[in-house]
Amino acid sequence: MTTLKLATRSAATLPADVLVVGLAKGPRGPVLASAEDLPTDAVAHLSQAAQTLGLNGSPDEVARVVAVPGITAASVLVSGLGPVAEAAYDGVVLRRAAGAAMRSLIGRAGTVALALPTPDVSSVTAVADGAYAGTYQYERRAAAAEPAVSVVSGAGRSKAVKAAVARAGVVGARRRLAMDLITLPANLLTPETFVQRVRKEVKASPAKLTVSVMDEVALAKAGCGGIIGVGQGSDNPPRMVSVTYRPSRSKASIALVGKGITFDTGGYRIKPIEGMLTMKHDMAGAADVLGAVLAVAELGLPVSVTGWLCLAENMISGNAQRPGDVVTMRTGMTVEILDPDAEGRMVLGDGMALASEQAPDAMVDIATLTGMQMTALGRRIAGLMGNDDAFTSRVAEAAEAAGEAMWVMPLPRDYRSSLDSPVADIAHKAEAWGGMLTAGIFLSEFVGAGIPWAHIDMAGPSWNPLGAYGNVPKGATGYGVSTLVQLVESYA
Ligand code: BES
Ligand code: MN
Ligand code: ZN
Repeated sequence: MTTLKLATRSAATLPADVLVVGLAKGPRGPVLASAEDLPTDAVAHLSQAAQTLGLNGSPDEVARVVAVPGITAASVLVSGLGPVAEAAYDGVVLRRAAGAAMRSLIGRAGTVALALPTPDVSSVTAVADGAYAGTYQYERRAAAAEPAVSVVSGAGRSKAVKAAVARAGVVGARRRLAMDLITLPANLLTPETFVQRVRKEVKASPAKLTVSVMDEVALAKAGCGGIIGVGQGSDNPPRMVSVTYRPSRSKASIALVGKGITFDTGGYRIKPIEGMLTMKHDMAGAADVLGAVLAVAELGLPVSVTGWLCLAENMISGNAQRPGDVVTMRTGMTVEILDPDAEGRMVLGDGMALASEQAPDAMVDIATLTGMQMTALGRRIAGLMGNDDAFTSRVAEAAEAAGEAMWVMPLPRDYRSSLDSPVADIAHKAEAWGGMLTAGIFLSEFVGAGIPWAHIDMAGPSWNPLGAYGNVPKGATGYGVSTLVQLVESYA
């Protein structure tokens, strides 16, 4: 996106190529949202046009109308909101309407003004955020010029509103970085090239962050047998990266740990091609963590954050891990490898142990961890688990505010015994039933004493193989970045 700014005038007089307005589904046909802010002849014309075009105001429905009386913009695009809201429209609805509108305008408009219903600051945030997400194009394709966007605020032009639009620009740009990384094929993004990209982005950032990298030698010396074991089958050795932001005035310290499997073949439990094909995105957790730490730093939030990127490639070779191997983790715990395809929890276990050693006030890990997450919750809703109800709720609230669907799942203590091993302190997987939960239980073993911790399994939401919808593009979605930033903000 070239620019994202707050509009300086009312919707009707903005000199944009396109003015975007919302169309909701009323009991007796479509209803123009925020009609009170538009001239009456414009409302009449647009309502008539909606009828003529057979629009009904469903989400993802967009239509462009030219020469609308009383409107300075050359055309008006109506974007569906779904059912008429009683009070303010939900953030998810606004993100979708803004995203769908913008996507339909890539290459078809130079300047766009969004006049969706925004009675409060959080709706302004949602519109700005959704517009940014909707215009994503993969860096290598970035063919069509992106429109410059301005957001018309129904909540005035206060400092808070201005800050909300600026914030959406920062978070949106960093979500795009995550999406670019997720989209990169695994021959171009190995653990080492990921490290180089981290260094480049940190160097180019106006904020001050520090990067520390452990290579395979340092990891072995540190006793990180989990990530070493996963990475040992690959010619591209593993890396553990920490990216730290430490503001001078800090109210809390948060650790973010991301699964960064640059490719998951399944190892010696090799995946069939259908399952393996998209496994370049198995590093989405690490990409999200990088994006979130950069965004937090660039927003200058008074909260210390360290992002841990657990980078490895899960391959087969003469030196790859075997089913039945026993490895020793950073914590000294021994783990029986029952299934080389359950590699994510092994790299995260070491990452979470290292993160815990710095005694953060709270820790979140985010990972494309299990197919069972998709069995339980489908493609669009991530599983959220944790060891501290208050903290888990805090993460759930952040996700809600960020417009990213997440559902709290249990970590039943009972199930711990299903991970008992005759040859090690713990086995790393149990039966498939409840596999999202037992993965979470396994991870809980690597949380330092007394640290509130939450686990986000986003196997489904991180990647959208179907068509784009609303603010969610096809392919890499960048799901998670906004929630992590929102969570850190809750401490600011
Ligand atoms: N990366 C996969 C999980 C995954 C599957 C993410 C589909 C996104 C889409 C993970 O490493 C994996 O292979 N999990 C196994 C766990 C099992 C071996 C306990 C799975 O889902 O089958
Ligand atoms: Mn796997
Ligand atoms: Zn994996």
